[in-house]
Order: sequence, then structure tokens, then C-alpha cells
Amino acid sequence: MCTAILCSLFVISAVFADDDFETILRKRNNLLQEELNMMFGSDIMLSDSEEQANKIIMELKTKEIDYGFGNPHHFNFSKHFFEYNDEVKDTELFKLIKAMPKGAMLHAHDTGILSPDYVLALTYKDNLFVCFEEDNINFLFSLETPTASCKTVWQSLKEARYSSGNIEKFDAALRKYFTLVIKNPNQVYTDINAVWSKFQQYFIVTTPLFSFKPIWEQYFYDTLKALRDDNVMYLEIRSVLPTLYDLHGSKYDTIDTAASYKKVLDEFMEDYPDFIGAKLIYAPLRSVDNNTVKEYLKIARELKKKFPDFFAGFDLVGQEDLGAPTKEFLQTLYEAKDEFEYFFHAGETNWYGTSSDENLADAIILNTRRIGHAFAITKHPLLIEEARKKDIAFEVNVVSNKVLKLVEDIRNHPLAVFLAQNLTVVISSDDPGLWEAEPLTHDFYVTFIGVASRHADIKLLKKLALNSLYYSTYHNKDKMVYEFEKRWTKFINTIVQDQ
Ligand SMILES: *[C@@H]1O[C@H](CO)[C@@H](O)[C@H](O)[C@H]1NC(C)=O
Ligand SMILES: *[C@@H]1O[C@H](CO)[C@@H](O)[C@H](O)[C@H]1NC(C)=O
Ligand SMILES: *[C@@H]1O[C@H](CO)[C@@H](O)[C@H](O)[C@H]1NC(C)=O
Ligand SMILES: [Zn+2]
Repeated sequence: MCTAILCSLFVISAVFADDDFETILRKRNNLLQEELNMMFGSDIMLSDSEEQANKIIMELKTKEIDYGFGNPHHFNFSKHFFEYNDEVKDTELFKLIKAMPKGAMLHAHDTGILSPDYVLALTYKDNLFVCFEEDNINFLFSLETPTASCKTVWQSLKEARYSSGNIEKFDAALRKYFTLVIKNPNQVYTDINAVWSKFQQYFIVTTPLFSFKPIWEQYFYDTLKALRDDNVMYLEIRSVLPTLYDLHGSKYDTIDTAASYKKVLDEFMEDYPDFIGAKLIYAPLRSVDNNTVKEYLKIARELKKKFPDFFAGFDLVGQEDLGAPTKEFLQTLYEAKDEFEYFFHAGETNWYGTSSDENLADAIILNTRRIGHAFAITKHPLLIEEARKKDIAFEVNVVSNKVLKLVEDIRNHPLAVFLAQNLTVVISSDDPGLWEAEPLTHDFYVTFIGVASRHADIKLLKKLALNSLYYSTYHNKDKMVYEFEKRWTKFINTIVQDQ
């Protein structure tokens, strides 16, 4: 009940409220739209056929996300990577992203790229000896029974395999040393040190396998091939450059090891001239003293002199929380900073305000060309500004960060923030062989559906690929981008025509 005057007042205020509400609604939508306009990739302009392809891709993506939103227990990306790495390969969207030209792979470690099945197959080579110890295994290629230390006994791997009585079981036990993938990762890998310990054991166990010179060369050739098959056209590979050996007792030092890579690259380029190329980042272990870092730099100087076109620069590797912080070597590295390009790992940590977190500042002060991971940088507004000013790109490895326990639910990965704020990122995969991922496709796939906004579309994918070219050290970017555009157009046409 209301009097005439009061009733008309109601009507008037309702009209005003509607107007008000319209304004608020517009404001709300504008805010969201402006934010989307700032997002990484939104400056890309799409052609008509790209728009068409985008529709198809976004239908697949939103279907997956919207189903997960309603049924979170079925959402792959909030789970452990090992629960879905295999089955997603059959999805249409995964296949599209596999076929998509992804540009360059700029953060990967040379002996962690190929699958455990590949490594297992290497143990079928002749002249391989094995020494089984409790929870450990030693390999060595040799013409005669090795004399190297062994807590049990050296035996020919071939004989051990055939006398085991069950080859399948024998191989399954070996394969476990070549992967981090297990059924119950959350129970076994209880903290970052637990998973890193298993991770490092892989490198220790496989070093004598891979540093056998013929295998060293085969592995690199097959890596390049796997990248090409994954539609990657260029690589910057990090290596500790171990001493190689052969069956005749010869040893090959760091420079020879690099030469070995250069030779294989040249062969590969001859066999596959459509591949753009590869460069080397010398990345020895960080858990050392000043004098060793000085030795490293001496070697780096020689590498630069001997392989001016192949050598890209210098980095240090190993678990940042445990290894020496970069600050320990700051002076040494600072003195050499005009001689080399640096590509430091930094901020691969959850420990805010610790020495490993502060590695980010050292990397930036040292004019690093890119930062490996930069996971912790969201907590450092000034470092983000500095990185922006110096045009330093972040090499983000989402799957690695999940498996190595920096983030539980991939939706909370800081890459979501990097993308929202249009920071300079490239996507890479670190050591995909250890988590049984494709060289680069899984990282793009997880980024696209699991990390980026529901609204992020093909523009994001294209920008990620283009950035990997722009932030590489390849000398002829125009050629690279031209080649990329050709392949991209072909890719788009295939999607559109398949409709
Ligand atoms: C993102 O930043 C880059 C330069 O760092 C710029 O070229 C690009 O236009 C920016 N994108 C958007 C959507 O603002
Ligand atoms: C992962 O995603 C696929 C494709 O959407 C789906 O079929 C599967 O059930 C999901 N896996 C899990 C563990 O939820
Ligand atoms: C390296 O030298 C600096 C002084 O130049 C010193 O502060 C630091 O502790 C040394 N680091 C190591 C790992 O020896
Ligand atoms: Zn790395």
C-alpha cells in the first residue's frame, strides 16, 4: 500500500536505479575488458582464417574448463601431472597444439629431454656393463670388465638381463631409474628435497651412459629430431658439458664435448634443412667455490672463441635452495659480464626473502639476457620493473614447477600473473623426459588450459611462439619469423579446412 505521492517516488527512484545499474554494469564490463586488453598476446591481430581457427580452438578449450568448473574432481589441471600426462595426448586440443608451430625451445637441459623408453633402449647397446648396488645402479661402456669401484660386482648388462629369468621385470626395474613418474607421487615425493634427490639421482645414474661418446652424439641427434617432430624449429640447450669417453680409453674434455654437439648439429641440419638451428648455453653446477667458477668462465671464454656462432652464453645449474647463491660469485661474474651473455636460473623457489629468492636480483644486476624460471619474481615489484626496462624474458616451465613441487595446483602458478600483466615470457619444458612429456607440447597445453585465463585464446599461443623467437639469440630473426609465419599459416589452413 502507498499514497499517490509515495508511489510515484518509488517509480522515479526505480528509474534512477535502473540507470545507475546500467552505468555500474558498463563500468564492470569495461574494467574486465580493459584488463583483457592488457593481457599478454592481446596486441596480436588475427586474420579471418585465424579467427575461424580460433573459434574451433576456443570451443574445445572452454568445453574442458566449463566441465571442470562444474565437476572439479574431474579437472585434470588441479591434479598431479602424472595423473593426466598420458591420457590428454588423445584429446583433440592436444593434437592441435602438437601440430602448432611452437617456435623455439629456450630452456632445456640436454640429458633430460628424451623419454625413459628411449634411455632404456640405450641399455641394449653392446659393451655395456652394470653394477647393481642397494638403491643404486652404475653403468659403464667397456671392452673388458670395468675396474671402477662397485660395492657388488660388475657384470655384462646383456648377460645380467638374459640370466635374470624375466626380461620384462628386469627392464621395468631399470626403467624406474630413468623417470620421475610413479603411481603415488604425493606420498613418495613428500617435499622439494625428496623429489630433487630422485631428480639428481637420474643425472648421476645416466651420466656414464650418456657420456659414452657415440651415445652422446646419438642422443643429441635424436633430441633435435624429437623437437622437430614436436614442431619446434630452434633450440638453445643448456649443458654441463661432461667429459666424454670411448671404448679405447680416450677422454674428451669440455671443448671436445661442445665440438661433438656442433658436429651433430651440422649433420642434422644437412639431413633436415628446414630446422633453423641450435645454440649452446654452458651451464655447469652451481654448488662449487669461487675458484671453480673462475675455471668455468675460462672454459666459457674458450668456447666462445672456438664456437662463436654456436656458443650462446653462460648459466649455473642445480637446486637453488641448496646450491651456493649467485651472490657468492657476484664479483667474479660481474667482472666477466661484458664478455658473455648470461642466462641465469633464478627464483626457482618458494622461499621468500631467502638467498635463493635473491638470486633474482643478482641475475638482473648481471644483465642476464633471460631468467630461467623467475618463479618467485611476482613478490618483487622493483625487480619486475627492472626486468621490464632491461627487456629480460622469463623462461617459464610450468610442468617442471609442478613436478618439482613449487606449486600444487597449476592454476596457482605465477605464470597466470605474468600473463595478466603482460610480462615478457617464453614457455619451455626444462627436463620433459623425466616427467614423460613431449618436448614442448605438454607445457603449451597446460599453460593454455590450466594456467591462462579462460578468455586467453589463439593470440596467446601465437605470441608465446613469436616471443620464443624474439628472445632467442639467433642472429637472423627476420628469417626465423618469416619461416614461422609460413608454417603458422599452413597450420591455420589445416584447421580451417578440416572443418
Ligand atoms: C606487452 O608488452 C610488449 C612489450 O613488452 C608490447 O610490445 C605489447 O604491445 C604489450 N601488449 C599489450 C597487450 O599491451
Ligand atoms: C582428463 O581430461 C580428459 C579429457 O577431458 C578426461 O577424459 C579425463 O577424464 C580427465 N582425467 C581425469 C583424471 O580427470
Ligand atoms: C667467493 O668470494 C667472495 C669474496 O669475493 C666471498 O664473499 C664468498 O664467500 C666466496 N664464495 C665461495 C663459495 O667461496
Ligand atoms: Zn632448468
